[in-house]
Amino acid sequence: MRLASAIGATLGTGLATGAAMTAYALWEARQYTLRHVGLPVLPEGAEPLRVLHLSDMHVVPSQHKKLDWIASLAALKPDLVVDTGDNLAHQRAVPAIVNALGTLLDVPGVFVHGSNDYYEPRLRNPFGYLLPDNGKRQTNVPELPWRDLSASFTKSGWLDLTNTRSSLTVKGIEFAFAGVDDPHLNLDDLPAVAGPADEAADVRLGVAHAPYLRVLDQFTADGYDAILAGHTHGGQVCLPGGRALATNCDLDPERARGLHTHTYAGRQAWLHVSAGLGTSPYTRIRIACRPEATLLTLTPRGASRR
Ligand SMILES: [Fe+2]
Repeated sequence: MRLASAIGATLGTGLATGAAMTAYALWEARQYTLRHVGLPVLPEGAEPLRVLHLSDMHVVPSQHKKLDWIASLAALKPDLVVDTGDNLAHQRAVPAIVNALGTLLDVPGVFVHGSNDYYEPRLRNPFGYLLPDNGKRQTNVPELPWRDLSASFTKSGWLDLTNTRSSLTVKGIEFAFAGVDDPHLNLDDLPAVAGPADEAADVRLGVAHAPYLRVLDQFTADGYDAILAGHTHGGQVCLPGGRALATNCDLDPERARGLHTHTYAGRQAWLHVSAGLGTSPYTRIRIACRPEATLLTLTPRGASRR
């Protein structure tokens, strides 16, 4: 009897702890946070520029708290928006996203897509991404309306950086961009964007959804000042203090989110990885890794970052 009651008490404690952890993780996944980061990539003497980095929104139209929070970002009045993909998680998400972005679509912007823009989410093992990548990708599911999303963005003037290079002048600062389609699905066409970044531009930015090392290596070798990406969800379920266990790609967990550097072929680039604003609708949990957007303040090279 004593043994049975001890086992019962242990099981009860375990279940209560699990329920409390799950409740916390569900709550944290809805604690939208704006992170501020300085990025010293401008020419000497240039005025600071503010870049809003959005990623991994994974929007379902009924997620009103998330959509309202995204809508509030327009008040920041950024100079440029960079969207690194995984916007969609529902067949009817495009109008909700366009509505939430509102006047942000009137701001100069660039975007690439992620795998979750292309395919409907499916119920999977919620902790499967912590396991080693088996290389399999679930693409035998209905497509999402990514073409409508691209059309809405480009109609507003945002540049589609899917496997292409482009340029944009913002407040007198000339940006040279290179972007790739989602490396997680092996859709990145690196030869299409290869070659030295435009030295005549003031700032050179590489943009990708998933920060696979082959992409970071090429952008760095080609002389891009900074690379912006998402996809990792910052680890999504992290150890206390925010230490990521996985990145869902071949990037090391130490760089799962935030501002870091990447070194390759004797060159170095800044790397900013957004932990993103969402998750799969089937795994809306986060631990020690709040959903985020980032306001990057571009400053002259040599200025300190915060
Ligand atoms: Fe994502």
